[in-house]
Amino acid sequence: MNILLFGKTGQVGWELQRALAPLGNVIALDVHSKEYCGDFSNPEGIAQTVRAIKPDVIVNAAAHTAVDKAESEQAFAQLLNSTSVEAIAKEAAKIGAWVVHYSTDYVFPGDGETPWQETDVTAPLNVYGQTKLDGEKALEAHCAKHLIFRTSWVYAGKGNNFAKTMLRLAKERTELSVINDQVGAPTGAELLADCTAHAIRTALVKPEVAGLYHLVASNTTTWYEYAALVFAQAREAGIELAIDKLNAVPTSAYPTPAKRPQNSRLNTEKFQRNFDLVLPSWEVGVKRMLAELFTAQSI
Ligand SMILES: NC(=O)c1ccc[n+]([C@@H]2O[C@H](COP(=O)([O-])OP(=O)(O)OC[C@H]3O[C@@H](n4cnc5c(N)ncnc54)[C@H](OP(=O)(O)O)[C@@H]3O)[C@@H](O)[C@H]2O)c1
Repeated sequence: MNILLFGKTGQVGWELQRALAPLGNVIALDVHSKEYCGDFSNPEGIAQTVRAIKPDVIVNAAAHTAVDKAESEQAFAQLLNSTSVEAIAKEAAKIGAWVVHYSTDYVFPGDGETPWQETDVTAPLNVYGQTKLDGEKALEAHCAKHLIFRTSWVYAGKGNNFAKTMLRLAKERTELSVINDQVGAPTGAELLADCTAHAIRTALVKPEVAGLYHLVASNTTTWYEYAALVFAQAREAGIELAIDKLNAVPTSAYPTPAKRPQNSRLNTEKFQRNFDLVLPSWEVGVKRMLAELFTAQSI
């Protein structure tokens, strides 16, 4: 089986290189790839790549993920998050390939406290969310064999993440203020990649599972509680922190160009049922990532 992976160097793309390897021959591309175009600002080039490789499965982890920047470069975000996804979808349909794609809780308006279901009405609050929603719709419209996974608050050991930023600040400062009115589930890129591999295996023998899914770790938290857990784990590991006061503040304390939803809770029952998988609590993945970080002494 040939698997074409776009966005191989991102948080999720990096973990997908590992998780997809046992499924077959993985052709992994990023924006700099030379032999084949992996640049999503060039939808025709992306279409040409699909035509040339003729993969059985396409997994797209590439995206314009700079949420605040997207507010001032809407056309560029649209090109990456929707136009190129449409190009993939059309070419995939012609060759009968599956397309696996990721979307976001930011397609929802973020009101209320109930976890969002796949059937709930969308109403993005920002440009990023709107372009990701357009990408979902393009894929649904042009390629029946698709899996779309809406996820949230993605972190990975590789590169920067919220926990690393908090640890750096906690070593420098005695007091920190962290947002406490956005609720969601930090979800590891490892978990997303492993679930993707399992889901592909299922889809190949049970094509009726095609569709849209919410895929996040179980249970929820706030950025404030997340930071508190990071500091507790660091102290338990013997890491010295300067911080002695952690303040819980509302979103309004940190104005950003893009508005963020307060309720990022996603209901994952459909995913767990259709793929016969159990999504672990967010704390399991975060504690593991922290343990690796502390062991590597890379902070
Ligand atoms: N991160 C989150 O919290 C979050 C939340 C919900 C949903 N998601 C979704 O999950 C998926 C994976 O996100 P992630 O967290 O892995 O994001 P990420 O680490 O930012 O990865 C996105 C990848 O896309 C690449 N990219 C940027 N411009 C490109 C272009 N013109 N052509 C090709 N590739 C380009 C980036 O490359 P460079 O690094 O070189 O720019 C990066 O490797 C995305 O669909 C995202 O929308 C993420």
